[in-house]
Amino acid sequence: MKANHGTYFKLFSIVTIAALLTGIVYIEADKDNLKRQINKETSFWDIYSEEELKANDFLLYRVDCGNVLSHAKTGAFQSTCDQPYGPDEITKRKWGYEPKDYMVSVKDKYGTGLNTYKWEISEDAWYDNNLTGFYYNFEVPKGEYEITLGFYNPFSARPIYAQIEDNMLVDGEKILKYKLTECTAYTSVEDSELNLKVFNPQRGVDAMKNPILSYIEVRVVPKFGRELLLSYMESLKGALDNQGLYTPESYESFTKAYQDAEQVLIENNGSTKENIEFRKSYFALKTSFEALEEIKVYTSFNPAKPWTDTKGNLIQAHGGQVQKLTFKDKETGKSVTKWWWVGEDKSKGAHGGICAYSSDDLYNWQFEGVVMRNVNSREELDNDEYFKELYKGLSKEELDNVYTCLSASTAIIERPKLIYNEKTDKYIIWFHADGPTATSNSSYAAASAGVAISDTPYGPFKFIDRYRLNVCPDDQEDFHPESKGMARDMNLFVDDDKTAYIIYSSEENLTLYISKLNDEYTYLATPVNEAKYGEDFIRLFPGAQREAPAVFKKDKTYYLVSSGCTGWAPNQARYYKASSMLGEWTNEGDPCIGDAQKTTFDSQSTCVFKADNGTYVFMADRWNPEDLKNSRYIWLPVIFNDDGSIALEYTEEWTLK
Ligand code: GAL
Repeated sequence: MKANHGTYFKLFSIVTIAALLTGIVYIEADKDNLKRQINKETSFWDIYSEEELKANDFLLYRVDCGNVLSHAKTGAFQSTCDQPYGPDEITKRKWGYEPKDYMVSVKDKYGTGLNTYKWEISEDAWYDNNLTGFYYNFEVPKGEYEITLGFYNPFSARPIYAQIEDNMLVDGEKILKYKLTECTAYTSVEDSELNLKVFNPQRGVDAMKNPILSYIEVRVVPKFGRELLLSYMESLKGALDNQGLYTPESYESFTKAYQDAEQVLIENNGSTKENIEFRKSYFALKTSFEALEEIKVYTSFNPAKPWTDTKGNLIQAHGGQVQKLTFKDKETGKSVTKWWWVGEDKSKGAHGGICAYSSDDLYNWQFEGVVMRNVNSREELDNDEYFKELYKGLSKEELDNVYTCLSASTAIIERPKLIYNEKTDKYIIWFHADGPTATSNSSYAAASAGVAISDTPYGPFKFIDRYRLNVCPDDQEDFHPESKGMARDMNLFVDDDKTAYIIYSSEENLTLYISKLNDEYTYLATPVNEAKYGEDFIRLFPGAQREAPAVFKKDKTYYLVSSGCTGWAPNQARYYKASSMLGEWTNEGDPCIGDAQKTTFDSQSTCVFKADNGTYVFMADRWNPEDLKNSRYIWLPVIFNDDGSIALEYTEEWTLK
């Protein structure tokens, strides 16, 4: 959402519209048009005052291309939405399009306002790459102009060009299918007529590349006196003083433009090029101000939309887990109960630590920090106060291991899950710990389960170690005997009797395992060489190649939703059911309804939790491999059918009510 506050520009455009509606359409003195005849030498500022122009939002023409009948919303120099080139009936200004046989005016089905109509090229037209196009001329006094061209493109994408006063000011801009593209350019006019041509010299014989044109706005660029810049800056003080309202990124570029403008005011005091500099600052400021993005307050889940925290930063808790925790507040020491979300920090790409967020309503999340940091260098581990304190007492070899497992350049820290251990009053995080090994450079060679511990849910979590886990018993078929005890995508589940289990992909992701944890939740219940199949661990559907396990329990039934193994690419979900964690699991198929592509609605499972109103929330990740931090969170309510089956249906927006 764009910033929504009174700028003097927006204010004046409201004034303009109001003025237009009440009939005071034209700049006062245009009633007496003759007095203001434009000749080659007349400059805008000889005949109009800045006040007059401001009052019209500096707008002279606003053309809804091809809409020759309507009189709505016109600029100061016109009285119709569009007309063939010639004197305007009322303002007497000469303006309009040069009629051509091939021009067809098409009313857009869904168009409104300036988008009601557009020019297209007729189907049977003979096309000349350089000549065919839409030509417009606008009578204007000598001066500087801002031209905005709008293209609402219902066709396939194509490049578009605009020559304005003989300069190619729009140079092959791609106008995308079903999108409105706006191009803004600046030009000076010396000869009292602004000439423009919109075309596509790359059209050749391909009619799918015909140019189109939806609207044109011509504004006079204000004379940039110091006062104008100053008063504009003054009007933006409100935004400047309200840092907390805006996303850090957008606020930062705004304050930068503001500071630049202050600098320009100082540096150009009395200089000959001051107006040019003031104008540049003015527009830089205007652009950054209009791009200010307000921090969102959420009242619903919006799967697939960017999700920002209470400071406006994209939430970094991928491959995550949500649960309700009661703990001592960091500041007050008082007991608080909060929703707690842990997940992967992908802000710097594939390698990151573990973040935590807290919430009261599950919609709005406060960043609680990177609760388990990864390490930038071996030196940092020795010298940084945070690490020195956390790992004090460890031998050099132990520290070397911590570095290998948490290295910011090589360690993979994925799918972290947190559980609280009542007995020890500790918080434990298990995660998929991976990276190269002494014998392999592959980034997923270690294939092990990492564990970290803390006194609080907000950390710091101290990394204990990473382990290979249970192995396939001799009397069963091992799907990857070359490498024993592998553990990749994982999850945790604490049963009602407080027994905890780790659920993970093993045997090179070919077989899911469920293994029991010890009473402290810090390691397996039984060491690997003594572990008994069926008592300490089980294998689920050997060779089925599933990962991303999300386990939950409702009434007496255990459910496990999983994905196939196709890296970041989504695939079809499948779920299993059982009446005990180490019991018989049955394959129940794909829970997704209406998932035409069979990709779990373009996402991969990570966790299911129960909200206060009883809704079970399915959490998944829509990975964006090119830009992992921009991966989306797909949260959907789990539907429970009477026959005990579950279903997932995609909903654009939903609430817990
Ligand atoms: C997926 C896995 C993710 C991540 C990714 C890397 O299969 O579920 O957590 O490891 O592969 O390609």
